[in-house]
Amino acid sequence: MPHYDPVRRCHFWVYPGWVYLMASGGAHIHHVLHTLARRVSACTGLPDEKILGMLRPPPKAEMGDYAFPCFELAKEKKKAPPVLAKELAEVLIRDVELAQVVHRVEAEGPFLNFHAQRGVLCSAVLRKVCDPTAPYAQSGEGAGKTIVIDYSAPNIAKPFHVGHLMSTVLGASLVRIHRLLGYKVEGVNHLGDWGTQCGYQFLAWQRADPKVREEQLAARGLEYLVELYVGINQPAKTIKGLEEELLDKNIAVQPDMRAKLEAQIAERKPAADEIDREARALFKKLEDGDAELRALWLRMRETTLAVLQKSYDRLGVSFESSAGEGFYEEYMKKMVKELKDGGKLTFSEGAWVIPLSEEGAKKKRPPFIIIKSDGGTKYDTRDLAAAIYRKETYGFYKNLYVVSVPQSAHFEGLFLALEKLGHAWAKDCVHVSFGIMQIKEGDETLPMSTRSGRMIPLNELLDTMVEIVRKIVEEKNPELPAAQKAVVAEAVGVGAIVFWIQSRRRTSNIVFDWKGATSPEGDTGPYVQYTHARACSILRKFGAKVPLQADLTLLVENEELAVCKQLERFPAVVQDAAAGYEPSLIATWLLETSRAFNDFYNKHQVLKAEHLNLMQARLVLVDATRAMLAKGLGLLGISAPEEM
Ligand code: ARG
Repeated sequence: MPHYDPVRRCHFWVYPGWVYLMASGGAHIHHVLHTLARRVSACTGLPDEKILGMLRPPPKAEMGDYAFPCFELAKEKKKAPPVLAKELAEVLIRDVELAQVVHRVEAEGPFLNFHAQRGVLCSAVLRKVCDPTAPYAQSGEGAGKTIVIDYSAPNIAKPFHVGHLMSTVLGASLVRIHRLLGYKVEGVNHLGDWGTQCGYQFLAWQRADPKVREEQLAARGLEYLVELYVGINQPAKTIKGLEEELLDKNIAVQPDMRAKLEAQIAERKPAADEIDREARALFKKLEDGDAELRALWLRMRETTLAVLQKSYDRLGVSFESSAGEGFYEEYMKKMVKELKDGGKLTFSEGAWVIPLSEEGAKKKRPPFIIIKSDGGTKYDTRDLAAAIYRKETYGFYKNLYVVSVPQSAHFEGLFLALEKLGHAWAKDCVHVSFGIMQIKEGDETLPMSTRSGRMIPLNELLDTMVEIVRKIVEEKNPELPAAQKAVVAEAVGVGAIVFWIQSRRRTSNIVFDWKGATSPEGDTGPYVQYTHARACSILRKFGAKVPLQADLTLLVENEELAVCKQLERFPAVVQDAAAGYEPSLIATWLLETSRAFNDFYNKHQVLKAEHLNLMQARLVLVDATRAMLAKGLGLLGISAPEEM
């Protein structure tokens, strides 16, 4: 079934026909398809491009390589589709030019099915993949268009949690995928760096030992800021706990206990209130432009980013902009004034809002709050400002937000508010949501306990993966030099988690399993990396330049064809991944291609092929697969070691 893409306003196939290839100028369409289109055009009168756009893979491999649906043409010619299909088949069966690329044409109900000449098809596909003048799967569909991708976006007073990791991984892939398609991409790390929490951090900072705090911030960044935040909030948290106890039914009937609890609360209250008062005052001071606090804020922010960048480096992630929530402070003031002056805001229950549901509407939506009743701005206000700023600054074609599902209502509200303000481009804003990731702990408890509530620094999480893989590498390839072992463990360990996140549809909830994700035999990143390394090892043993001039029509085995058909699909898979914001399509393609390649490798000899020409042709197949596996892994942010 084709899926409807509301942004592109068209249908697309998850495993598409060639519609999207056509959209990109058809650079990847090989000569078998061109010949097919030309000959079908000759007997139907339809233009070649139209035919290429209609061809699709038949539902089963034994039905042929390409299917042409006859419905539309039959309607025009006032014939039953199966009748027309039969008539066309009879003409095409005698077509000499077509016979050079197709060995069978069959009418199957309303479809015309074509069976390509195997060797000719393999050769046509591999020539495209290896064409040095037109990098395969690259396209110009995005030329002249800018896409803003808002991703990662941790908060500087709360832990960098798994949701942020997913956003980072998915967002970075969408950046790379769109770049390959020729879009200009602006990756933005919309850091949660503004709000009362800043005041709490300042206060905790002022109370900390000057030497210790400097060392800690430089070494641990975000982690340290969270610790400061948690520490300074401790008294308030303790009081909250005591108050909850007080509400307990059993305690309510024990006057002694009640009195004891009340006394404990009363004793702690002044200190907690004092902290809250001072923290709020400090944040107010920052907002009012205090230079010293501004400098401290900037330094905390920059240091945090620098430490975070170490993890981002391991994930191969960098941003064009790290304009966080605080960045919009001035811009927001201007925006709010304009909105107020322009009569765009409604005063409701003490707050300034943009109402989102019409009078008397059946489904009521809460209004979009711009100024809270205490006069402060909100997460919403900053997002509204950021969207308008991005449109003004980048003139985006699309503005994506890679943020978890629970924020859906927030983004619906944001886009609706933009629409209400008359911004027609609100329709170009997309919430690319993703599900929840849970960690399987099983018998083993690894240091990623979410239950303990402890923050798992991203680096530590990656280190744990790398450690697991190091042991596997040690077992599998003890001869590898130690330095190389470390490089491989890093690539495979980090790759394992990055692949796992992207190997499921982004909106599904996933359960992370440490062992499962690293298994070299499962549907994992390491499996794809091993397959890639296997291809590299064949080429290494061959030891000379890949013989590109080989006669590729010698590739006629089932397994050879299966690999080539996977390679043929790759550009369309990349385009679908972009159209549906779904990197998992690439992960699935990588697994399928790896399986196809391993089947080929297990059944056929490459370096000991029956004859020299066949060996040469197979080497080209191996090299093309190697290159595309590396390319697909690269799009997902995973490196492809040559040896493991
Ligand atoms: N900092 C937010 C959070 O951790 C995510 C921000 C996403 N981006 C945005 N423009 N709202 O939940």
